[in-house]
Amino acid sequence: MKVLVTGGCGFIGSHIVDLLIEKNHEVLVFDDLSSGTMENLNAKADLFTGDLTNRTEIDAFFRMQKPDAVIHHAAQIDVQQSMKNPAYDCSVNIQGTVDLLDLSIRSGVKRFIYASSAAVYGNPEYLGIDEEHPKNPESFYGYSKLVPETYIRMMSCASGMGYAILRYANVFGPRQKSRGEGGVVAVFTERMKAKKDCIIFGDGEQTRDFIYVKDIARANLLALESDKDFTANVSTSEATSVNRLFTLMKDVYNYEKSAVYKPAREGDIEHSWLSNNKIIAILNWKPEYSLNDGIREMSINND
Ligand SMILES: NC(=O)c1ccc[n+]([C@@H]2O[C@H](COP(=O)([O-])OP(=O)(O)OC[C@H]3O[C@@H](n4cnc5c(N)ncnc54)[C@H](O)[C@@H]3O)[C@@H](O)[C@H]2O)c1
Repeated sequence: MKVLVTGGCGFIGSHIVDLLIEKNHEVLVFDDLSSGTMENLNAKADLFTGDLTNRTEIDAFFRMQKPDAVIHHAAQIDVQQSMKNPAYDCSVNIQGTVDLLDLSIRSGVKRFIYASSAAVYGNPEYLGIDEEHPKNPESFYGYSKLVPETYIRMMSCASGMGYAILRYANVFGPRQKSRGEGGVVAVFTERMKAKKDCIIFGDGEQTRDFIYVKDIARANLLALESDKDFTANVSTSEATSVNRLFTLMKDVYNYEKSAVYKPAREGDIEHSWLSNNKIIAILNWKPEYSLNDGIREMSINND
């Protein structure tokens, strides 16, 4: 299949590109290299450098190429940045996605996979957050991931294009930068390797659902191959405290310092984990990596 991966030079997108190439798909990447890098990109993928906020550039891409499917990961992912500059966040994540969707449909794309986020739920009202949980994003980033979901469902339904919307928990793995979503593993990795202090905000008992990037890539592959239209969480269904994460990582990196505790940051969510029952039922996907497996693999192969 000829597959376009937007954001294929970024953290998650580049792992999806690698897996698609391993499975003998032809892979095209559309990326403006604003946070992604050429080093992340598989040499067998074809890169088209372009900006999602420029409809003419996306249009030119679709005129040259006729992908069968689109896996959309290009985005402005920095939550703080979305609060400082909501207009830019909106132009990339909302308008950019709607343009991409529109041009995909016009060009005859058969399937559209979208990277959404747990940020669409906001502060959890209950744990084991499932897809029916109220959507009350706490940031413009959360809104800008949520709004395109509706466009995707409505425009796909009207055109007959298949779609899958995947809401990721906190993704970690090689190539992640220490900013944006899910960055705590990347931050600890960087600081432990440099033997610098690791800061934990609050008492460290706050929990997150950490999912390894290769499990995310496999969910995208299965979603691409599926003929079902759906919206589902991609997560481990497990809560891990920041203290436990720190202890696991300390062991892997032979880090000798204790964590430095600072006051909790205002607005930080106390506990969060997402139920993965739905995606297991639809795609028969299950995470294959435990947190420990992922961290160990990452320590060997942090390219
Ligand atoms: N990392 C996480 O934990 C997480 C969690 C939930 C959802 N997501 C979603 O997954 C996707 C990928 O996130 P990531 O962590 O790999 O981020 P990333 O910043 O590493 O990747 C984003 C890619 O998009 C490209 N890009 C950004 N703006 C662009 C534009 N205007 N035009 C073209 N390309 C552009 C960047 O250069 C980069 O290669 C995003 O849609 C994000 O919202 C990530």
